[in-house]
Amino acid sequence: MPQLTEAKRSCYCGELRKSDIGKEVILKGWVHSHRNHGGIIFLDIRDRTGLCQVELDPKNIAAEYFESAQKLRDEFVIAVKGKVAARPEGMVNPKLATGEIEVKASCFEILNTSQPLPYTMDSYANMSEENRLRYRYLDLRRPEMQEIIITRSKLYRVVRTFLHENGFIEVDTPILTKSTPEGARDFLVPSRMSEGMFYALPQSPQLFKQILMVAGYDRYFQIARCFRDEDFRANRQPEFTQIDIEMSFITPEDLFEPMERLIKKIFEEIKGAKVEIPFRRIPYAEAMLKYGSDKPDLRFGLEIKDVTDIFRSCDFRVFKETIEAGGVIRALCVPAAAEKISNTQLKPGGEIPRVAATYGAKGIAWFKMEGEPALPNSNISKFFAAETLASLASALGAAAGDLILIVADKPKVAAESLGQLRLWLGRALNLINPDALEFAWIVDFPLFEWNENERRWDSAHHPFTSPMPEDIPLLETAPEKVRARAYDLTLNGEEIGGGSIRIHRSDVQETVFKAIGIGEKEARHRFGFLLEALSYGAPPHGGIAFGLDRIMMILMKRDSIRDVIPFPKTQAGLCLMTGAPSDVTDEQLRDVHIQLRREIKE
Ligand code: AMO
Repeated sequence: MPQLTEAKRSCYCGELRKSDIGKEVILKGWVHSHRNHGGIIFLDIRDRTGLCQVELDPKNIAAEYFESAQKLRDEFVIAVKGKVAARPEGMVNPKLATGEIEVKASCFEILNTSQPLPYTMDSYANMSEENRLRYRYLDLRRPEMQEIIITRSKLYRVVRTFLHENGFIEVDTPILTKSTPEGARDFLVPSRMSEGMFYALPQSPQLFKQILMVAGYDRYFQIARCFRDEDFRANRQPEFTQIDIEMSFITPEDLFEPMERLIKKIFEEIKGAKVEIPFRRIPYAEAMLKYGSDKPDLRFGLEIKDVTDIFRSCDFRVFKETIEAGGVIRALCVPAAAEKISNTQLKPGGEIPRVAATYGAKGIAWFKMEGEPALPNSNISKFFAAETLASLASALGAAAGDLILIVADKPKVAAESLGQLRLWLGRALNLINPDALEFAWIVDFPLFEWNENERRWDSAHHPFTSPMPEDIPLLETAPEKVRARAYDLTLNGEEIGGGSIRIHRSDVQETVFKAIGIGEKEARHRFGFLLEALSYGAPPHGGIAFGLDRIMMILMKRDSIRDVIPFPKTQAGLCLMTGAPSDVTDEQLRDVHIQLRREIKE
């Protein structure tokens, strides 16, 4: 007769300590491992708090129960009743929190069996990601993954507590809604009741949070799910979570202050890390120039310098032509790297030009600081006057043994390719302290960026971002000069949040729509509700959204966003566990008035 199935568990497996010796306990959990030593079975029972050793000795357990112990396999679900005892001398396991004790079972039951695992608990961390996602429930059962998911829950709690304590109101906004332009493709949901019409899943709660400001709910927040049908990368998912914030009557500084305290709280409470606030502010133009990126990794130096002026009158054809065409010459001086980086890595087709080429650079010029006194030297140094080389060395502060890398190209290409080389060198030369946390606000973004494919201006952030008031007259005449009241928060080379002060006047909003090619009619059709709301006493307002999954990646030191999301999608947007997306019946399609195009059906 089962005794333990219904019996109440007395504590979790990983909680038992020396102070519990002598107590009678009932544990429930999974068989982590088991071994038979001369008729006595030792097993580790596991739940989400950890492991505990259990001894099944036929002397202490009635034969009818002990018999079933022979059938035990890993991952069977069991219940154990017994007494906590000190482990015999020499058997203490200092690596285990419960390593000083064991439970001597008096009763034991198998609550459920398990098929043999597709891989063993210990080895399947090394299994293909495909298998981990296919059997996500087994992957999530691993202590390492449980730590991540439990930390994620703690993060939700820290965020909610902080924001409630600081006067923010939690409001949820719809999932079935109208398209919000955050720069990605929408996921669409066909409507059954309105034939031929579609809902869009929100790319963010952007418009709703602005409308909440119009409605007077100053200091809104939501831990919001967002959906974007875009190409995935290591730090992107089609479905992700934001800590979404909006505030009224603020300047950027009024927002930075509580947000810095929120981020500090998160990193201190969850990671025990020390975080200094305020964070530094770096103008976008400076970040692009010095680090070749608007999300610079500030855990190491290696700053890029513009050396165009030094080469302005040189005869070296590539440099000369680049400058004449309005391009720039930028350089990276890598201390003491002349010997660490080989000429094979530098020559055309080598690793370094390959990294730069990915970002559009046609080539890399390089020099090594050699000789006495040290001067830039390489296969191309003969094309330059000695004074030019000396000025280059002095502008870069280059010393003997340093390596100088140069890209001559359009400003964007020179910045991005050297920026990526900087990161590559940071990793290759071990310049990055993995424990450092380097935060920075990137500010003064341009309002628009040029879309070369479609030959028009796009919003750099989103179209609801306010221009600097003094730049409003430039909206129609010189859009490239208009600066945005936008800001990103970056950490260790990741963009962990982004936001802006919004446009709160419908006339300015219409002018911005016009500048990005959204005419009056289209604006009314897509965003009429927002323009209308702005005309009913909209307060000045602004906000930000943090990528919760990206913050989790950094907290848990993970390179893949899929490791910190309970049920993520693959790079191809699939859920390997459920098989989503999947086909549906003809009837379901008929209900939503959809007929598949024949070529897709086949
Ligand atoms: P933005 O598009 O910059 O701004 O998003 C805010 C933050 O969300 C994270 N993020 C993502 N994380 C995982 N997967 C993705 N596909 C993904 N896309 C973005 C990033 C990013 O910094 N409504 C505005 C915010 C605002 O203006 O208040 C918005 O969504 O960490």
